[in-house]
Order: sequence, then C-alpha cells, then structure tokens
Amino acid sequence: MPTALLTAPATHVPLVIAHRGASGHRPEHTLAGYELAARMGADFLEPDLVSTADGVLVARHEPMIGATTDVAAHPEFADRRTVRTVDGFTVEDWFADDFTLAELRTLRAVERLPLLRQGNTVYDGLFPVPTLDEILELRARLSVELGREIGVYPETKSPTYFAGRGLPCEPALVAALRAHGLDRADSPVFVQSFETANLRALHEEIPVRLIQLLDDVGAPTDLVAAGDPRTFADLTRPAELGAIARYAAGIGPAKELVIPPGGEPTPLVADAHAAGLLVHVFTFRNENSFLPAGMRRAGREADHGDVFVEYRAFLAAGVDGVFSDYPDTAVAAFSL
Ligand code: G3P
Ligand code: CA
Repeated sequence: MPTALLTAPATHVPLVIAHRGASGHRPEHTLAGYELAARMGADFLEPDLVSTADGVLVARHEPMIGATTDVAAHPEFADRRTVRTVDGFTVEDWFADDFTLAELRTLRAVERLPLLRQGNTVYDGLFPVPTLDEILELRARLSVELGREIGVYPETKSPTYFAGRGLPCEPALVAALRAHGLDRADSPVFVQSFETANLRALHEEIPVRLIQLLDDVGAPTDLVAAGDPRTFADLTRPAELGAIARYAAGIGPAKELVIPPGGEPTPLVADAHAAGLLVHVFTFRNENSFLPAGMRRAGREADHGDVFVEYRAFLAAGVDGVFSDYPDTAVAAFSL
C-alpha cells in the first residue's frame, strides 16, 4: 500500500462514508473493499445488513444474492431460487435468508456492475460474504493500525421483509454493537434505515446515533404496510424533520433531494440543520453513468466525469457527510 494512503487526514468535513466499502475498486461488501476504503482515508465503513436462515447478520445490499455472488454457478443451490416480495417488488432470485451461514460461506462475491467496473471483475470469486462480526473486528484492527477511529455505519436492509420472515435484524445488530463496545451515544457508529418504525424502536433500545434515510421516490415500506400515506418527499418537510429529530441524529437523503440534477440546492439542508439533524447524502460515484448531464465527460458510460464539481457543489450546500463508492476521490475532493 502506498505511504500516501496511510497518511490520509484523520477526519473530514464532510465525513467520508465508504459506500458498501471501496465499491468502485473492489466487489461491494467484501472485507477487502472495506479495508481498502479505510486505507484510502474513509471515516466510516458502510455495511448493508441482511440475515441468514440461522439469524447471522452478513453484509449484502439486499436479501437477494444473485447479483453479487456466484450462487448461480452452484447447482446444489439451484432449487433455492424462488419468488418473493421485497419492499413492494416481486422478484425471482436466491435469498440470503434461505441459506445458513455455513452454506452462504461456500459462495464468493462477484462485481455487481461488470460492464461499468470491468477492473473489479478480476476479484470475482476471491472473497466470501463477510459477517457483521468480521467487519467490526476489521474496524477495530484498522483503527489501531491507522491510528484513527474507523467508524461503522450499518444499514438495516428491508426490516419489514426480515421481520415477516421471523428473522428481524435489529436484535442481532444491538447485540453485536454491545459485544464490540460500540453501544454508546459517542461510539463511532451510525445506524441507518429507509424504514421509520425500526429506527424508533432502536432509539428506545440503544443510544447510538441513528440516520433516517430518505429516497427521492416512493415511501418507507413500514408506512406503506401500516396504511400511512406519507412518502419520503413528505418526510422532508420541516414539521416531519422535527419529528425525525426526536429519534435520529440525522437524515440520509438521496442527492437529488439536496441538489436536483441541473438545478439549485433545495432548502432541505437548512431545514434539517434547523431541526438539529445532520445531513449525510448518498451516493457519489465517479462514472459518467451516474453523473448529471453537465458533469459527464466525453467517452463511455464507465469513464469518469467531473466528480470534483459535484462534491464541491454538495460541500457548498452544507452537507455533513457523503456516501461514496470512491472514498479516495471523496477524500481528495475535500482535501485538495
Ligand atoms: O445507505 C445509504 C445508501 O447506501 C442508501 O442506498 O441502496 O445503496 O443502500 P443503498
Ligand atoms: Ca446502504
């Protein structure tokens, strides 16, 4: 590892949150990706959490594992492919909650975006699906080695789905945070969710900081299930932000809610700050494919665009943190 990566600044304003690890450089949600992110200077590592059939928390972006593991190449699991409804969408796939941890560990991670991130495909087949415990152990080891606190920023994925399967993630998450000494209000931890009810319950259970995620479309699945008509857009209103501040330390809005593509910043950052909430925005990615038209560079979708322009626009908008697939780029954007 080049020395320059080991001497990255200890903290950043805004915080740099390694989205699914250094997922622009390694297949997402692998220990290799998380470690690289920390060495690149990320402040926090972001594991999305799902449950195995035997109740172990592992890092995957969604209950479905077909897009990010080699499960399709395992004939012994062919009959596990099935149809389920997750967050309102009916999908056919393999599901983490149909595999014991031992079974899941026979699989290997693969790159989700092979056409955009061809370089990452050389790592296909090398890394297992990590457990939350392994991630927390890695976090502790790297904090000592790098001489700065590496935070962890777990997301409870699809809480209504997992509760319906009898495998709620929250009890295991709370137990793991307590077991690793990460259960205080000032622990280097944020717990995030796109749903609201599980965050409210966690607020009563453990004093770590919570982040209410807000997408640019749709509504929280728990509100939909309860017949509550409020959408994510509704939750960005000042009165709702005040209600969120009673259980969360901040919001995690989609970029479009802060600066619409090609437009001017919305009042969301100021309104959130007025309510006493942090604002951590998702998701920053270098490829043209993910950038607004004015920030793309001539070339392929996979080529990188004018990302510093984008980071600095959000810096000027006053955000407190960014989720990035390229933590090295984010660190540079806020350091140069
Ligand atoms: O958690 C922030 C961001 O990661 C939310 O988006 O879908 O990548 O988990 P997603
Ligand atoms: Ca996430």
